[in-house]
Amino acid sequence: MVDADNKIKIEKIKGFRDHYPEDMEIRNSIFTEITETAEDFGFKRIDFPSLEYLDLYKLKSGSELVSQTFSFVDKGGREVTLIPEATPSTVRLLTARKDLPKPVKWYSFPKVWRYEEPQEGRFREHYQFNADLFGIDSAKVDAELIGLATNILDNLGLSGIYEININDRNLLEYILNDLNINDVNNAFLIIDKFRKISRESFIEMFRKLDANDENINKIIDLLSEKLDMDSLSKKLKKLLNNYKNIDDRIKRIQETFEYISYYTKSSINFDFSVVRGLSYYTGIVFEAFDVAGKLRAILGGGRYNNLASLLSGDDIPAIGFAMGDAVIELLLKRQNLWERNIRKASYYVCVLNDVNSEYPITIAQKIRKTNKIASIDFTGRKLPAQLKAAMDYDYSIIIGNDEIKNNSVSIKNMKDGDQKILSFDDFIKSL
Ligand code: HAM
Repeated sequence: MVDADNKIKIEKIKGFRDHYPEDMEIRNSIFTEITETAEDFGFKRIDFPSLEYLDLYKLKSGSELVSQTFSFVDKGGREVTLIPEATPSTVRLLTARKDLPKPVKWYSFPKVWRYEEPQEGRFREHYQFNADLFGIDSAKVDAELIGLATNILDNLGLSGIYEININDRNLLEYILNDLNINDVNNAFLIIDKFRKISRESFIEMFRKLDANDENINKIIDLLSEKLDMDSLSKKLKKLLNNYKNIDDRIKRIQETFEYISYYTKSSINFDFSVVRGLSYYTGIVFEAFDVAGKLRAILGGGRYNNLASLLSGDDIPAIGFAMGDAVIELLLKRQNLWERNIRKASYYVCVLNDVNSEYPITIAQKIRKTNKIASIDFTGRKLPAQLKAAMDYDYSIIIGNDEIKNNSVSIKNMKDGDQKILSFDDFIKSL
């Protein structure tokens, strides 16, 4: 990569992002809002390596995700990968600690990497917030995790902008069997593509699973509309030969929906087309979408009761979800909620070039102790150049030998230009 001036030009890799300070400032504040909501629910933060054995993902994440990994053989001959998601690592940490009292409620906020085609809301590297709860399998816990997801979105100001679509893989498996489709894993993979491929290809793929056209049409009908609890049971009573067997499942879903309503007023639907691409899910699965239907999924998750036993033989029920930073950023920008007034008051300490004293440091330290920002200009350049650098700040403080001699502070408000001299004590009081 050599340009016209014969200079080596190395650009950013496709699908990766840079974040400059003005972007990071907002990003940090939003990430904090998310993690504080998780902590308010009693979730505790964990972290894990960015590199894991590829086998961890071969276990149960599914062939599509494994094919998207940035994986390689390291210098020790180990087949490793940059983590494409956090769930297998989280379960690895969990199963390595038998002493932890259940339920275990953990969150994490790693970067993850997937070799996907970059597009709106999808990159090859993204930050991904994860929350998972281990040790209880109940409607109340399913609702709590979905409740946390909705509270995060609500706290970010997105109430009314998103909806949660929920499915139950158990129920869908039962329906597929009832319609004589026994290759459930492949049926799930096809259903996962329902909204992404043409109707013809969808039908063709189901025919390959030996499904007859009458049953394929029943499936298409089932996947085509979002349902509330009433229409769910009515629809299934009409569709299934044997409804009685799924009575308990339906009750559990109804209970979950009822409990979710205590967390949020947002729109919650039952949607058979949500099956999720990852293959470890065993029960309820859910995704959040923008109501306008313009963007990719905001977040996604579900119950995965078998992953721990695959890793360690321990039977530990689990449910969780993850949310990337990319779609949230798009949504917040569209709602004019991205720019936020988050900055602490800030002071730029200009130091005249003949000053040789610790006084500027003392002033800056006093400012920092009051949880405000202070940056000292150590360049020794002329005052106008220092004031130019202070433009971004709320105040500049000018320290010359006069200020040191009089134990005073010359302070300028950078917004309105107002300038005054305060005694050191009065300045400290003004903070
Ligand atoms: P996932 O649906 O693969 O689930 O990803 C979760 C979220 O990560 C997506 O809804 C989206 O916000 C974000 N995301 C995924 N891929 C990309 C990408 N290429 N660029 C930007 N954002 C992306 C999981 O990863 C599961 N491990 C979630 C989970 C946790 N299930 C149980 N616990």
